[in-house]
Amino acid sequence: MTAAIVGIGAALPEKTVPNSYFTSRLDTSDEWIRKRTGIAERRFLAEDGHLADLAVAASRQALRTAGRAAADVHHIVVATTTPDRVTPGLAVEVATRLGMPRAAAFDLHAACAGFVYALDHASALIESGRAKAVLVCGAEALTRITDRTDRSTAVLLGDGAGAVLLADVARAPAPCFSLGSDGERIPLLYADRHDRVLRMDGPEIFVHAVEKMSAATRRVLGRQELAPEEIDLFVAHQANARIVRAVAKELGVPAERVFLNVDRVANTSSASIPIALAQAWEEGLLSGSGLLGVAAFGAGITWGAGVVGWRLGEL
Ligand code: UT7
Repeated sequence: MTAAIVGIGAALPEKTVPNSYFTSRLDTSDEWIRKRTGIAERRFLAEDGHLADLAVAASRQALRTAGRAAADVHHIVVATTTPDRVTPGLAVEVATRLGMPRAAAFDLHAACAGFVYALDHASALIESGRAKAVLVCGAEALTRITDRTDRSTAVLLGDGAGAVLLADVARAPAPCFSLGSDGERIPLLYADRHDRVLRMDGPEIFVHAVEKMSAATRRVLGRQELAPEEIDLFVAHQANARIVRAVAKELGVPAERVFLNVDRVANTSSASIPIALAQAWEEGLLSGSGLLGVAAFGAGITWGAGVVGWRLGEL
């Protein structure tokens, strides 16, 4: 059994928020935000909006592009740190609204690395023969845990959801993942239960993000005996264009194979990779089949990287 991505979808909130929203409220500038992060705009979910609506829409598109019926998929995992309720998580509601009766459904919390952790879990279910297909969604409303008065985080974050359908595909390249964490570094990026907003030491996180994503990707390539040029598309967590470019440079992944959409959506944590995948797919970068490289990094600190094949439009 070999897991590959067979469907992709994304859904963004309607409200687009350009950098100018912040320049009138905080001591910052459009130039600083673009130059230091690559971000031009992001989306905000309405205060009374439901993140489950975005997760359902993204998942529905992933099923549609795969040509699969929801009723034939029996597992869903949603990576999120900002679900609509304390409990239950998003996955159970999404499964029911999609029409996946009695599916195994749960949320996974590994901060911005959540989607890569979820992909690893889903691949393992397929490889072990315990599932034929798994819906993997990343959904975040980071505006729920943002201090809008803190310029060092407020300008970086956005909301959205993305999803992929992972399924058993004959002759797909074997997926491989490397995950890790280091709880000694919690103070670098966290939201505690009292003030419930993200606090971050940006420059320190920057250094660890580049180091950990590069090392994890290198481990995966080494295990699979792959050269960086054998990755057809590299989609890293969209936290900062400079971080993604630094990781790609460190690894030797050619620049034209590195996908960036942080300019349009900012950092959407565990939703950022599947949202980027959906945009890459819309731009025709994921047609047919190929090998995808992913890497992510977030609070914890947590990190992960992997390679997984895609087979789109063939089913
Ligand atoms: O999602 C997973 C985790 N998150 C990340 O991976 C984000 C990682 N960190 C970063 O992306 C970057 O570190 C930042 C974008 C947060 C900051 O960029 P930087 O190049 O590391 O910053 P810098 O060292 O060039 O500048 C920091 C300075 C500080 O001022 P002082 O102390 O040097 O006077 C900040 O107060 O930039 C200041 N600053 C800002 N200035 C204008 C921070 N935020 C802003 C802002 N506008 N919005």
